[in-house]
Amino acid sequence: MKITIIGTGYVGLTSGTCFAEVGHDVICVDHDQAKIETLLQGKIPIYEPKLADLVKKNVDAGRLNFTTSTKQGVEFGEAIFIAVPTPPQPDGSVDLSFIEKVSREIAACLSPDLGHRVIVDKSTVPVKTGDKVEQTIARYATAGSEFSVASNPEFLREGSAVDDLLNPDRVVFGSNSAQALSILREIYQPFNAPMIETDINSSELIKHAANSFLALKISYINAISAICEKSDANVEEVAKGIGLDHRIGSAFLNAGLGYGGSCFPKDIKAFIAIAEELGQPFDLLKEVERINERQLEQFLDKIKEKLWVLKDKKIALWGLAFKSNTDDVRESIAIKLAKELLAQGASVHAYDPKALETAKKFGGLSGDIHYYNEPYALLEQADALVIATEWQEFTSLDFPKVKQSLRTPLIFDGRNLLDPAMMNNLGFEYVSIGR
Ligand code: UDX
Repeated sequence: MKITIIGTGYVGLTSGTCFAEVGHDVICVDHDQAKIETLLQGKIPIYEPKLADLVKKNVDAGRLNFTTSTKQGVEFGEAIFIAVPTPPQPDGSVDLSFIEKVSREIAACLSPDLGHRVIVDKSTVPVKTGDKVEQTIARYATAGSEFSVASNPEFLREGSAVDDLLNPDRVVFGSNSAQALSILREIYQPFNAPMIETDINSSELIKHAANSFLALKISYINAISAICEKSDANVEEVAKGIGLDHRIGSAFLNAGLGYGGSCFPKDIKAFIAIAEELGQPFDLLKEVERINERQLEQFLDKIKEKLWVLKDKKIALWGLAFKSNTDDVRESIAIKLAKELLAQGASVHAYDPKALETAKKFGGLSGDIHYYNEPYALLEQADALVIATEWQEFTSLDFPKVKQSLRTPLIFDGRNLLDPAMMNNLGFEYVSIGR
């Protein structure tokens, strides 16, 4: 199949590359000239495991191309995927202006002699956005142009995006057009995954319902972790004990500082706003958010309980990315934590395996903040070590050396990465979450 992707962010670039990898011919469109030039040279603008090699392989094979021209894209692909940002507005509702603009741009390139085009929305959008896209394209396209509209939400996780795309649990798409559904079936046939074919509204809703449920699982276990702390129980034992019930499942039951990233915080807010607008308030999700905020507050309380006054204390911080295996710091709890420590007068010395540069550029940290490109030097005479991101690397470092470097052997582990018994045996005062 010939496929066009509009927008080369995380979702667009990884989807386009994986479509090429399974044998489709793909062109990715982005209005950012510099980004397209970088991609044409076989380099990628983000850190995502396996992606750079796959982009290069498929560019070399001639199956993956890049352009700044929407016209070229619309002429090329029988299916045109929209993968542009849908950022939050100050009130939590979704800003759909990029989707609207791209819909008009596609419409301007359609013509009756081009043949049928299916416009597939891959960005996360409120239910019923497809109707708006369809109306907009119909209004702005030359009369007689043939097109249909579909929704195909994406469930990839940053850090494992390529594997998630090539081996999805399921593929979801929806349209009210039989022709669109048949094209999407053909596109996804090589992925050998269960396909959920549905109407367009249900498909759009599935994305917000799925992300909200996952965030709810995280907040649920975090709420349990607070109860564990009050009752001398261990949240990891509780998570294991409930997770093996297959109706619950063990994934997304890691207690910690809570969820961050470019999706969950935005999507939960959006779903609350969507439900409100539909006249069906979803208060459960407000509590999910509240618990998520409380996790960081309670963790800061624990730090203050031990260190009393943070002013002029040196804090070593491992982790800045919003999760492991990514350089992304958007809505990162680690960054929020660093901001709080700085605001209270601490000197923060931070290391992250991949997110140092993005944190410097986009983290918005200022004042007494220092960055290190290895994990040991920052520990020298620090009053405590704080772990804020779940990088596996942090579990296999030299802890006797860590202990020697710190002024006092105090570790706050916000991701439950280390073994409490082992840390105590090594002579650390070790504080984690719910255990
Ligand atoms: C998420 C969804 O998983 C994905 O399906 C959707 O397409 C986009 O949003 P992503 O944000 O990349 O993906 O990362 P994810 O692995 O889901 O983690 C999100 C946040 O939750 C991270 O901050 C992570 O640290 C936190 N988390 C995750 C927990 O605190 N506990 C867990 O058990 C799992």
